Amino acid sequence: MSSAVSLGVVGLGNMGTAIVSGIVEAGWSRSKLVVYDIDSEKLEKFADTHDLLTAASIADLCKAVDVLLLAVKPADLTDVCGEITVDSITGIISIAAGVSTDKINSMVDQQTIVLRAMPNTPARVGKGLTFLAAEPDSGSDSLTGLAVKIFDAVGEVEIIAESQLDAVTALAGSGPAYIFYFLESLKQAGVYLGLKPQIANKTALETMAGAVELARAGDESFAQLREQVSSPGGTTVEALKYLDLVGFKGSIVEAVNRAHQKSRLLEKE
Ligand SMILES: NC(=O)c1ccc[n+]([C@@H]2O[C@H](COP(=O)([O-])OP(=O)(O)OC[C@H]3O[C@@H](n4cnc5c(N)ncnc54)[C@H](OP(=O)(O)O)[C@@H]3O)[C@@H](O)[C@H]2O)c1
Repeated sequence: MSSAVSLGVVGLGNMGTAIVSGIVEAGWSRSKLVVYDIDSEKLEKFADTHDLLTAASIADLCKAVDVLLLAVKPADLTDVCGEITVDSITGIISIAAGVSTDKINSMVDQQTIVLRAMPNTPARVGKGLTFLAAEPDSGSDSLTGLAVKIFDAVGEVEIIAESQLDAVTALAGSGPAYIFYFLESLKQAGVYLGLKPQIANKTALETMAGAVELARAGDESFAQLREQVSSPGGTTVEALKYLDLVGFKGSIVEAVNRAHQKSRLLEKE
């Protein structure tokens, strides 16, 4: 994975470290990568472990690289953007939920090309799904190409319109949390039924993994696959009947809808 462009990553939390680890593993040249985090202890520890170049400040980072990847919380973007000097920067990639390219451009002192990306935490194991907001004729072709290269290293990449980014933020960005919450619930149910925690944990995880593989293997819909486990009058329909009674599907739909609304509000906070 070679790149003529040097990348500066701001924020070494969950996503920043996952992305940096992924691209380094994919062969991104260490001489073309500089990292920065406001927490100097965290910065030095991560950089030492991965043998990475560091910057002492965002201003120093801007002098050292061509493109910035912002991996800080939406609430920290104003501070970070206020320190960016765009003279030597050719583009900014932001993974912050809910903050538009226009807003980011208004936070930096001069206009630059800004591209938004929405990854998710399975990027940590190379199984992320990242959406890039690239509009036709946005003039950000080379930045889009670079972003594809970066996020390809940690999973799959899809390109969508920025207007749909809040929807995929709610579904894919937040999605792993819903899945882990469901796994926690299945595990708890197993423990209530008398299984040892390790057995309940394995049962939940492998059942989920097996079901996902099955869904991937063919072209049957999720509903068809569910029906194949639902013999009339059997155990599964008894469970599904209860889920319908308590509005399980509606709750999931409304939960994702609320994440979507929150993503749309984040920019105003
Ligand atoms: N986590 C997810 O599942 C996920 C998925 C998709 C997108 N995102 C987006 O990714 C971004 C990062 O999320 P995250 O979960 O990785 O957050 P995180 O774990 O909190 O990481 C953010 C890092 O940035 C550091 N930071 C804060 N202010 C800074 C500054 N002024 N300069 C440099 N570094 C600074 C934080 O340090 P301190 O801890 O000391 O403040 C922290 O190390 C967010 O905007 C989020 O919307 C997250």
